[in-house]
Amino acid sequence: MNILAEELNKTLSDSVAYGFLSAVGRRMYFPKGIVAQSDEAKEKAKKYNATVGLATRNGEPFYLRDIYSLFKEGSLKPAQIFSYAPGGGDKTLRSLWKDSMIEKNPSLKGKRFSLPLVTGGLTHAISMVAELFVSEGDDIVCPDLFWDNYDLIFTDLIGANARLFPFYGENGGFNIEGMKAALLSCKGEYARIILNFPNNPTGYTPSKDEAKAIVDAVVSVAETGKKIMVISDDAYFGLFFEDDTEKESLFAYFADAHENIFAVKGDAATKEEMVWGFRVGFLTYASKGFTDAHIDALTKKTLGMIRCSVSNCDRPGQSLIVSAMQDGEHYREDKAIIFSEMKKRYEIVHKAVEKHKNDDILTPYSFNSGYFMAFDTHGRSAEELRTYLLDKYQVGVINIMGKTLRLAYCSVEPEGLEELVDTVYKAAGELWN
Ligand SMILES: Cc1ncc(COP(=O)(O)O)c(C=O)c1O
Repeated sequence: MNILAEELNKTLSDSVAYGFLSAVGRRMYFPKGIVAQSDEAKEKAKKYNATVGLATRNGEPFYLRDIYSLFKEGSLKPAQIFSYAPGGGDKTLRSLWKDSMIEKNPSLKGKRFSLPLVTGGLTHAISMVAELFVSEGDDIVCPDLFWDNYDLIFTDLIGANARLFPFYGENGGFNIEGMKAALLSCKGEYARIILNFPNNPTGYTPSKDEAKAIVDAVVSVAETGKKIMVISDDAYFGLFFEDDTEKESLFAYFADAHENIFAVKGDAATKEEMVWGFRVGFLTYASKGFTDAHIDALTKKTLGMIRCSVSNCDRPGQSLIVSAMQDGEHYREDKAIIFSEMKKRYEIVHKAVEKHKNDDILTPYSFNSGYFMAFDTHGRSAEELRTYLLDKYQVGVINIMGKTLRLAYCSVEPEGLEELVDTVYKAAGELWN
């Protein structure tokens, strides 16, 4: 094992994170290779800096005028578009994101957590967490309605066992008892869980009381001596449409909840800043017992993962986000407009679904946030309904694991939403009544 990895492992050995490390996680480190040497040269090589594979003239990268001319004159310098970004991401972006995390999650104020690392979208963040902290055969707890990519990442890439529990409890809210039982049933000393709110595919976020009960339940498992890694997938963070919905990420509570809890937050500019194609996400760590040295070691291991997967992330995307967050004339206004548009669509869909409340052929899952709502097809084939809707009505929806039909109402104009819901019910009636 590389000596640098050994040093990081030694630093982490008295932290909760250590026992979660996979074999890859243990081997990982940030090499003192080209990147580190060229960083050193940036400071000292005043005469000739022949370190990086990036073609420059007078200190600026070469570029094609046909590309640069597409940016507004004077807006971004060539280096802000064409250079490599640092491996962990643009420093200004990282601290802006950290500040915005505290603004959006006031409970984080004063808590110790890592400076977010920039990832190539949230998928990349989750995938790296899986490679670093989950090994083949480990249990990963997850509610049974989840983003399908978790399967590919945790089950197929890593070879972990998905320990699913029913998403909704008997009262129609989040199944906290089921979650707790699943955590307790994980074999051995360690348990891992991924929670995603607002949820894809259901559109559900816990109420404030439920959020507190979720944290209390995980803490009660931690008190039994089990060590728990809680991954908060906050892809749709902020899209909360009801008053009593929890408005903070669970990460804000788990960050200092218990020494046995290792809190991981994956979030992204993708949906929060409406830059789906930019591929800019973030990865942040916290635990009650973490020291600065633990956080530094975890950051270095993650930098190693970034280095060996994508090396570094999208430069123009990061510069554009920094510029909007720092100096954007319409930044807050546009975000507010888009939020109200999504809320409006949510309300239309709610009403449209309500009209069909006596039609038990499909049951909408409780939803209050995000981009989606989903129907329970009661064991009938959601794939059959999906293809029927497509072929007969030219309506595209998603079949989730054969028994759930998901509607992404975020991508349909408000005028069409009632008809969309009516058509789904009509088609289900034609098929199954
Ligand atoms: C629940 C959830 N997590 C993560 C992601 C991935 O986000 P990104 O596009 O930033 O990789 C998505 C995207 O659809 C998602 O729905």
